[in-house]
Amino acid sequence: MSSNGFNLLQGKKGIIFGPLDDKSIAWKIAEVAYREGAEFGISNIKVALRMGQIDELAKKCGDAPVIVCDASNNEQLDAAFTQLKEKFGKLDFIVHSIGMSPNVRKKKDYMDLNYDWFHKTLDVSALSLHRVVTQALKADALNGGASIVALSYIGAQRIFTKYGDMGDAKALLESVTRSLGSRLGERGIRINTISQSPTVTTAGSGIVGFNAMYDFAEKLSPLGNASADECADYVLTLLSDLTRKVTMQNLYHDGGFSSMGISDAIFEMMYGDK
Ligand SMILES: NC(=O)c1ccc[n+]([C@@H]2O[C@H](COP(=O)([O-])OP(=O)(O)OC[C@H]3O[C@@H](n4cnc5c(N)ncnc54)[C@H](O)[C@@H]3O)[C@@H](O)[C@H]2O)c1
Repeated sequence: MSSNGFNLLQGKKGIIFGPLDDKSIAWKIAEVAYREGAEFGISNIKVALRMGQIDELAKKCGDAPVIVCDASNNEQLDAAFTQLKEKFGKLDFIVHSIGMSPNVRKKKDYMDLNYDWFHKTLDVSALSLHRVVTQALKADALNGGASIVALSYIGAQRIFTKYGDMGDAKALLESVTRSLGSRLGERGIRINTISQSPTVTTAGSGIVGFNAMYDFAEKLSPLGNASADECADYVLTLLSDLTRKVTMQNLYHDGGFSSMGISDAIFEMMYGDK
């Protein structure tokens, strides 16, 4: 990878939701997008702006505007898109890198969910994508040809018992992506999810058993787990003009994990050399 980049996002404007600290996938996406010539706002909730290092990221990305916004709140989203439109004009990309489950955070077993928290999980982690896209359209803040990318996990398709209600949230996120994609096509707008390997971040490490999920995936995947930096490079291709006809897809970025059954490494871990 060239450290100077390829100017793949030259002239493009956008918004990146979800950078918290330098481990965040969205943080890495912002760094890559800046390297590739994009101008963008970075956004998170108020408490994350207090706890995280977002001002530092903004400085590194050409004094990117920092926008306080709860992505589960339509009014705040409307204000965010109106503010960005005033600064940049219409946007060419949106990155949704948002996930949160109070049940997972508070170690609630799937068979004993708190339903208020379950609603919160679905609202913040999945319905927020619908809100983000529809509020951007209502504010007339998206260009034809724009690209929208959200982050998902294979827990949407297969059961990872410790992933709890986030599995349901990711299944909904991927479904919302397809539903939106079918309606955005007439405007030339595309939308996809990237299904990323377990990655050491604040959200990832909050899952009980995260280390086991990480190590298992590392041993099963022929290429090993994909890092946050590698994820950012893949997201970049989807934001660029090189992928204009890719839409409504859930794209695995997982070192081959999703196509594997068992690997020699797992076999040996269980049975040694027998
Ligand atoms: N880390 C992993 O193992 C992994 C694997 C696959 C997919 N993902 C997904 O990648 C995305 C980014 O997560 P991450 O791993 O970088 O962790 P992270 O904790 O760095 O990022 C999650 C972000 O969501 C933000 N957020 C929470 N509630 C919000 C709200 N109401 N409005 C706006 N933002 C809100 C948080 O403040 C945080 O910045 C998530 O969708 C996550 O599910 C993560």
